[in-house]
Amino acid sequence: MRFLHLAFVPACLIAACVARRPVPSSTGSTPVAAAEPVRNDGSPQAVAVHDVSEVTPPPVGAASEPVPGFMRGINLGNALDAPVEGAWGVKLEKAHFAMAKAAGLDHVRLPARFSAHADKKAPYLIESDFFDRIDWAIEQAKDNGLSLIIDLHHYEELMKKPSEHADRLVAMWKQIAEHYKSAPPSVAFELINEPCDQLTSDLLNPITQRALAAVRATNPTRTVFVDSFFWANAERLKELELPQDPNLVPSFHNYQPILFTHQGMPFMAPEFQTRPVVFPGPPATPVTPVAAGLKTDWVNTWFTSYNSAPVTENSNGPKAVFDYFQIVEDYVKTTKRRVYMGEWGVSVNADPKSRESWIRLVRKEAEKRHIGWAIWDDGGAFKAMDVKQGTWVAPIEAGLFH
Ligand code: GLC
Repeated sequence: MRFLHLAFVPACLIAACVARRPVPSSTGSTPVAAAEPVRNDGSPQAVAVHDVSEVTPPPVGAASEPVPGFMRGINLGNALDAPVEGAWGVKLEKAHFAMAKAAGLDHVRLPARFSAHADKKAPYLIESDFFDRIDWAIEQAKDNGLSLIIDLHHYEELMKKPSEHADRLVAMWKQIAEHYKSAPPSVAFELINEPCDQLTSDLLNPITQRALAAVRATNPTRTVFVDSFFWANAERLKELELPQDPNLVPSFHNYQPILFTHQGMPFMAPEFQTRPVVFPGPPATPVTPVAAGLKTDWVNTWFTSYNSAPVTENSNGPKAVFDYFQIVEDYVKTTKRRVYMGEWGVSVNADPKSRESWIRLVRKEAEKRHIGWAIWDDGGAFKAMDVKQGTWVAPIEAGLFH
């Protein structure tokens, strides 16, 4: 797939800097009508009038080799990646791990903001309390037979000033690697979550290689995941320059189409605020984008397709999902590397049926290609499970497991 438009949102609109490139749009027309269903909270909400099964998936061209132990997982987000655990309303509990295991998952990805728990000056010592907390999480994972990825998340200063923060990143990885050098192979590392902003591929590559060398000095065979530039965009995988290392796994994130998965998210720019957006399009009644969307070319084009193109071609349809996986396939074919989908999900702002349809479709397409995944996440606006109640959020559970 070629991306026709590049939407670049100023980074860090709030604490979480999140923006991703949209898919290209296409045009066509088949407006359809449907009854107005009722939202979970009782208010009316649009839902899709089409079904993803109306579109035939393309055959799989190239599959990844699996990454054993890291095939089906959940991100335990909004906890250790917050400035302080609990600041974003989530504290890790034993139940997180027990629920993941009971659901049949094989791993958890643990986003952790090491940069908020390490000295600002060399040798950049990481707080022992923070290590204790991660040690605890690893114990929980082990007790439940789960693998775990230590994911260095939200190093925002590195994104803004890569050269100034490179030494600190490498020093942190040296310490993390030393600390976990005797951990079992079920513990993996992820060097930098979602490189963005100024951490472009030309800077990301040498920094990644330095961090990896620090890890390999003490952990010669540990599984290490590496994200591509632009919030781990699949299209940027090909810009990664990695050594031939069988235990190195390039990782991409999948939130396409972003105007659907991140609709109305307060941390996104104004042009992302149009809702409702149903999956798949077209909707029963055309939607007018918010003013900022109307002023943004790629958003406008995307909504023209969403409102009128047939489901087979719709900018918010299965084709957008297939096209994104095609990029990954091309990468796998060219490089013969394994890949991993470390984040994907759709926010609570989408209606339950659309969430379920998108999640099931993305999961199936990933699994057909033997791509391991971790859904985003247990808490926050993409909430998949309620650990207090011990229940999964119904549309997520249905899409993931049924
Ligand atoms: C990224 C961000 C996280 C956000 C998620 C979904 O991982 O780090 O804060 O919630 O993507 O947008």
